[in-house]
Amino acid sequence: MLILGIESSCDESAVSIVRMERGTSLSILSEVISSQIDLHRAYGGVVPELAAREHLVNLPKVTGSALELAGISLSQVDLVSYTRGPGLKGCLLMGDRFAKALAISSGARLRGVNHVEAHLLSPMIENTELSFPFLGLVVSGGHTELYLVKGLGKYELIARTIDDAAGEAFDKSANLLGIEYPGGAKLAAMADTVSGSCFKLPSVMTGTQGDKAALAFSIQDAIIAAIIRKVKVAVEDCGIRDIAISGGVSANRRLRVELEGINQVRLFSARRDLCTDNATMIAFLGGLYEEQIDQGTTIAHAFEDDLKLEVKARWPVVKPKVL
Ligand code: KG4
Ligand code: ZN
Repeated sequence: MLILGIESSCDESAVSIVRMERGTSLSILSEVISSQIDLHRAYGGVVPELAAREHLVNLPKVTGSALELAGISLSQVDLVSYTRGPGLKGCLLMGDRFAKALAISSGARLRGVNHVEAHLLSPMIENTELSFPFLGLVVSGGHTELYLVKGLGKYELIARTIDDAAGEAFDKSANLLGIEYPGGAKLAAMADTVSGSCFKLPSVMTGTQGDKAALAFSIQDAIIAAIIRKVKVAVEDCGIRDIAISGGVSANRRLRVELEGINQVRLFSARRDLCTDNATMIAFLGGLYEEQIDQGTTIAHAFEDDLKLEVKARWPVVKPKVL
């Protein structure tokens, strides 16, 4: 099955073409990504309206390049898998309409998938030894969520942030430290230049570059400590020691060191560019659902192949429990 994956939920227009056959691992034929970082830098964050317009310009170009690199024509694509949500509504709409147009013109099937779920399962793309059940930690710009992953479409939410997501906390703190957008990774790199800090957060500080590194250390420490506390409880409660991390913040060195330090834990993650927003994880998730449907298995999520489905700017991976 040849799958064309499309990601457009935020500020990356990405298209991947992958081949997926049941029982074999995924082979990636091409991955093309157009980042909008330069466009949004002047504003210190993503401007939704600009981002949506940029997707309109970029998606056709990125798709053309991806098809060319993969050496296939659009008519050979069996499945178009795209991000239906969650994300910025205008950006999702661009990807959605584009995906539908591609599916109509090529005759391919269409599957709109959940972006956070795609992050959650992305460590399975290259780690064949990672199998259900495992603990899935999604730490990105928009999400900090810990799930018990029992199977495809079978998730239990264990913990989620009630405040900013880890990536957003990194980015906002970086902004306050005068680090250029997107500052999360730069703040982390700055924090790693020192081995400790006297700052006890919350506190207000101004000062030299040395002070900034120490403050970056404390910020990183505070963000990561909150995550590690929850993961430790989940590991003990569930008795599951396989942890799969995904999302942009999973590139964080300190987070990885701390997770690996938890008793007997096996840590899995995708390669770095599959941790951040990408279309390969979208293609992969669409392919997994397609395989299940081919096998006649009933799946927990309703993913109708329907051109009339609308995007979902808010779309929890697990339906919140009504108390
Ligand atoms: O998954 P992602 O690419 O986009 C979202 O879906 O949100 O995650 C991007 C986030 C940004 O907030 C970025 O600052 C953060 O991941 N990030 C990091 C690091 N690398 C990226 N945060 C901390 N340490 C890093 N090394
Ligand atoms: Zn993401």
